[in-house]
Amino acid sequence: MKVNGTHYRSLWWDDDRQALQIIDQRWLPHDFRVQQVDTMQDFADAIVEMRVRGAPLIGATAAYGMALAARLDPSDAHLDESFAFLDKTRPTAINLRWALTRCRAHLKALPVDERAAAALKLAHEISDEDVEINRNIGRNGLEIIRGIAAGKKDGEPVRILTHCNAGWIATVDWGTATSPMYQAHDAGIPIHVWVDETRPRNQGALTSWELGSHGIPHTYITDNAGGHLMQHGQVDLVIVGTDRTTRRGDVCNKIGTYLKALAAKANNVPFYVALPSPTIDWAVDNGVAEIPIEERLEREVTHIQGLKEDGTIGQVQVTPVGTPGGNPAFDVTPNHLVTGLITERGVCAASAEGLAGLFPDLSKLAESA
Ligand code: MRU
Repeated sequence: MKVNGTHYRSLWWDDDRQALQIIDQRWLPHDFRVQQVDTMQDFADAIVEMRVRGAPLIGATAAYGMALAARLDPSDAHLDESFAFLDKTRPTAINLRWALTRCRAHLKALPVDERAAAALKLAHEISDEDVEINRNIGRNGLEIIRGIAAGKKDGEPVRILTHCNAGWIATVDWGTATSPMYQAHDAGIPIHVWVDETRPRNQGALTSWELGSHGIPHTYITDNAGGHLMQHGQVDLVIVGTDRTTRRGDVCNKIGTYLKALAAKANNVPFYVALPSPTIDWAVDNGVAEIPIEERLEREVTHIQGLKEDGTIGQVQVTPVGTPGGNPAFDVTPNHLVTGLITERGVCAASAEGLAGLFPDLSKLAESA
């Protein structure tokens, strides 16, 4: 998508420097900083500190991490070591493990002297595939928005609520939850997006930045406003992303998603999840019982970052000194609260049958593993 008229992906390979470039998202939306990632420690830091974030982008970054690992030392032992090193950076988004597993398996099947080149090629492929997956999620989600728009008076917008940032900077391009929004806007369908703030990291500010750059009308709201807006008929549908979706369609996403799903159910508001297939964890059934939930630093809760009046970016403390902060970063929305999963192959029920019906190849592969 575009930043000030220039097309960007959220990461890209610089051929001249033979190095990965990322947008350091810690400074958005106030400052656009690009960082080169040169060492294995840089890769781990970029993921842990959320310079790159969002399940698909973490996966693509990890693939480039494995490419660096293969360039440094393509032996089986070093690939295993690098897999473990990157795998421990963040526990919840399954795309990380998915990309690492795919890269390691692909490389180990090759002669050692071919691995470095093959690893870089595969990282490019994983990135390109992500762009296509998200483009297709957008096409499929667009039809849902078009259906709702058909019941509206001329010029009346379809009102969509989203949580966190499942936007283009959370993927390689397009985003998952935002892709239908971009495509609806580009197709001339009027939309308005309610953007949840998403404390504590305020990913809603990133979503606002993205939507604003694309000219999509939106309003930034507190996390607690969604239920009220739904009760008052101000939300036509919810679309969120996911960090891991189980075989039966339980959805793990940014903390607070579950509360939005409960409010949507109580108010008969359709609740859709945009789901790229690498985010399905075919080995897990019950999301609440089985998905590890990342617990992040308490400082992210007790302090808040923003643009100060002197133009610098800084943090202030919100709580009294010494107040403990609890920071579970994700929650699980059980499948019965999900209206549908918007995937690259179409929209399906959040159920084992729904997912296996759209992805028979992947579900069979998982069964035989
Ligand atoms: O902690 P984050 O910012 O990495 O969490 C991101 C989310 O929860 C997104 O909604 C999810 O990864 C889907 S991104 C297309």
